[in-house]
Amino acid sequence: MNQHATGVAIETHGLVKTFGRTRAVDGVDLTVPAGTVYGVLGPNGAGKTTAVRMLATLLRPDAGEARVFGHDVLREADAVRGRVSLTGQYASIDEDLTGAENLVLLSRLLGHGKASARRRAAQLLEAFGLTEAAERQVKNYSGGMRRRIDIAASIIKTPDLLFLDEPTTGLDPRSRNQVWEIVRIIVAQGTTVLLTTQYLDEADQLASRIAVIDHGKVIAEGTPGQLKSSVGAGSVHVRLRDAAQRPEAERLLARALGATVQLDPDPVGLTARISGAETGSGAAEHASRALAELARSGITVDNFSLGQPSLDEVFLALTDHTTTTTKEAAA
Ligand SMILES: Nc1ncnc2c1ncn2[C@@H]1O[C@H](COP(=O)(O)OP(=O)(O)OP(=O)(O)O)[C@@H](O)[C@H]1O
Ligand SMILES: [Mg+2]
Repeated sequence: MNQHATGVAIETHGLVKTFGRTRAVDGVDLTVPAGTVYGVLGPNGAGKTTAVRMLATLLRPDAGEARVFGHDVLREADAVRGRVSLTGQYASIDEDLTGAENLVLLSRLLGHGKASARRRAAQLLEAFGLTEAAERQVKNYSGGMRRRIDIAASIIKTPDLLFLDEPTTGLDPRSRNQVWEIVRIIVAQGTTVLLTTQYLDEADQLASRIAVIDHGKVIAEGTPGQLKSSVGAGSVHVRLRDAAQRPEAERLLARALGATVQLDPDPVGLTARISGAETGSGAAEHASRALAELARSGITVDNFSLGQPSLDEVFLALTDHTTTTTKEAAA
């Protein structure tokens, strides 16, 4: 199992897929290290599912190259198929069967004997918190249960590479957490996970590296920390004792930080973005000078915090940049 934890799981060069005039995937270069969760982050229509389907050999690329564990997705599709599994809109669950029946059936199809198939099904139902729902028809499952049985079905035979296409879209926070926990367990067992998501916090929670894609192109790539520091050091949030002092505080902060200051919906709250030039301790130093300035002017600060930018801010900053250059291509 450990041999999969090193090396490269996926490598693509100039991968392209067009549908009519839409360049769904428009020259994507990716390198996914084995043994990690790799996040592919992008809004609706960015090209995530199309990219995953090409990597899983379900769709032919129009141009470029893609290798999975060194196997070409076109010329060595069988070798690729033997090592990957896909969870997404295309799961092979039968809604009329119970959760247990589905897993037993799929295990049998993968070559397990009767007893072994039952054992594997029970083990997965237990691991995914579905033991109580085991004898219920899947059509009566909640969204979160359904997502979990989908993932369970895709790892009956532990794949070397698992594609999870938006595994938590539409789930409530508790179900999302359960799915995240499952992903962590799967990776700890040596499987590489390529996770697509529209949620930046999800990529932040799970992925060691992230590719941000928009209109079929990778617009940024790196660790969550690198992506965040690429758009600036973060923000200072300040809460005042007295709302009447806010206009004065806004003026002083803007001057001290050389930044635009936003007024929060909370009438005593202000938020200032610290510029990209200020990093690490520089940002903290900058912020504390600004706070001292407020104190000198007799403005009481109840509390403050210095935060890294969220991936949401990163995403907005990145997609703003590319709006004008790539929007028409996808229109
Ligand atoms: N079979 C198809 N025929 C025509 N156009 C397609 C097809 N599949 C995808 N597209 C188009 O390709 C683009 C990328 O779609 P894709 O499904 O890959 O996006 P996505 O990032 O997975 O979006 P979502 O987050 O909504 O799932 C979209 O403009 C979509 O309309
Ligand atoms: Mg999709």
